Amino acid sequence: MALLEMRNTTKSFAGVAANDDVSLTVQEGSVHALLGENGAGKTTLMNILYGLYQAESGKIFWEGKEVQFAEPKEAIEQGIGMVHQHFMLVRNMTVLQNIILGLRPKGYPFIDLKAISEELTSISEKYGLVIDIQKRIDELSVGEQQRVEILKTLYRKAKLLILDEPTAVLTPQETGELFGVLRSLCRDGHSVILISHRLAEIMDVSDEITVLRDGKSIATLKTAACTKEELSRLMIGRDLKQEAVVHRTDPAEEEILGVRDLTLAGSGEKPLLDHVNLAVRRGEILGIAGVDGNGQNYLAEVICGIRTLNDKKQDALFYKGKSMERWSIKRRYLEGISYIPDDRHRDGLVLDSDVKDNYILRDYNTPRFSLRGVLKKGVIEESVQEAVERFDIHTKGIQERVGNLSGGNQQKIILSREIRDEAELLIAMQPTRGLDIGAASFVHDRLIEMRKNRKGILLISTDLDEIMKLSDRIAVIFEGRIMGILPNTEELSIEMIGLMMGGHPMEEVMNA
Ligand SMILES: Nc1ncnc2c1ncn2[C@@H]1O[C@H](COP(=O)(O)OP(=O)(O)OP(=O)(O)O)[C@@H](O)[C@H]1O
Ligand SMILES: [Mg+2]
Repeated sequence: MALLEMRNTTKSFAGVAANDDVSLTVQEGSVHALLGENGAGKTTLMNILYGLYQAESGKIFWEGKEVQFAEPKEAIEQGIGMVHQHFMLVRNMTVLQNIILGLRPKGYPFIDLKAISEELTSISEKYGLVIDIQKRIDELSVGEQQRVEILKTLYRKAKLLILDEPTAVLTPQETGELFGVLRSLCRDGHSVILISHRLAEIMDVSDEITVLRDGKSIATLKTAACTKEELSRLMIGRDLKQEAVVHRTDPAEEEILGVRDLTLAGSGEKPLLDHVNLAVRRGEILGIAGVDGNGQNYLAEVICGIRTLNDKKQDALFYKGKSMERWSIKRRYLEGISYIPDDRHRDGLVLDSDVKDNYILRDYNTPRFSLRGVLKKGVIEESVQEAVERFDIHTKGIQERVGNLSGGNQQKIILSREIRDEAELLIAMQPTRGLDIGAASFVHDRLIEMRKNRKGILLISTDLDEIMKLSDRIAVIFEGRIMGILPNTEELSIEMIGLMMGGHPMEEVMNA
């Protein structure tokens, strides 16, 4: 008997079907992958299962019995846990507070925090979900926040774990660890529904795969009996071409970004950024490799002006040769610095606003879009429409609320805004996270095009394949320090970068 069966699920938003007669069967003790392009309806289907949305038609059978979940609480009680594509943690509360939020643990209202902590520690040790439960969420990296979400579902005794793009925020090592966790959960009789755009991963960890396309379930296959090519064809209906990228940097080129001896103090003893030196030249992609949480976000934020340096007299940041430390965020943007942030929901988008307002968010009061304080409505609409088409953003229109778009399509809005002609320096953090393979290769092409147009790109990514594919040179960051900067040549291996990411200095790695 299957653990879960969803039959003929249909759900529309404003008359457009997000799920159209979708069926899904998940066996006990298995990893079931859900595959499909951005906007195919994966998250919607899972939200229905979890009780967040009500389907218009369709049935759900749980352990053979028909069920209906009016709200997530009922799904959780049955043993269904979900880790959302965008986490739902309260930022100014601790890990522990977040985990017990909304629960009525034994003895409520007299909560035995010590017992709960002990239980959490034992779960986290059992599965290698290392996390300091006393820390506040806003002190955690995205990868760490995900561990909290997983820990939370396990604490609530989930039998079926739904993970919506869990690996998008993880390093290869962390992904490997997560898959280890999933396999051991399955051996215990748990099941997992895994959403991912990375075919290699799906092939690696899943037992079965269901492909969704345009809201319909196209096929369910046994992983062992199919190939990546077959899957990508089922998903997008065509083969993807891969272009070879040639890496080179001309040292004579003008420096667009210069970072000299930059140090950023934190609340603790260790600085967040420790004597960082690097440069991005015209026509260059400088990749920053590193395990999530090693100072990448601080570096990006300092360059974009979101975070100011504690010591105002450092003179550590140069843009086209000019010291830019005192420039406001806005001035930096107007001078041509673009930023694709790590945490889209906090820094990149206003979810309650529409596509149009999010597109003009950064320059609605500049001559491009306004004249003497009056918005140029026609110009704006035309530009947004063009961006929507160019980036293939699936939206009902430019007035659609951004929060209603699928995860990948929200991401495309930021990309379409920041990859602009006026940009001379692009700070791109995880630019393809959450994008389907077609959209990701489109973004890679845009970055390569920017390079060809002699822009500078600082590519910060935990995805080593992406770093190795695109970068002319690669800098490795570890605990706020640059461990070395290497040209991306044939001699450079993933293993060497991996060692440096773990804190081994470049000299040691090169001589090994
Ligand atoms: N709350 C909502 N209101 C209106 N439309 C919605 C809502 N949620 C989803 N949709 C629409 O339903 C469709 C499917 O979205 P869904 O989020 O399920 O896609 P997805 O497969 O998870 O994509 P991605 O890989 O980009 O996350 C999209 O066209 C989306 O705009
Ligand atoms: Mg989704």
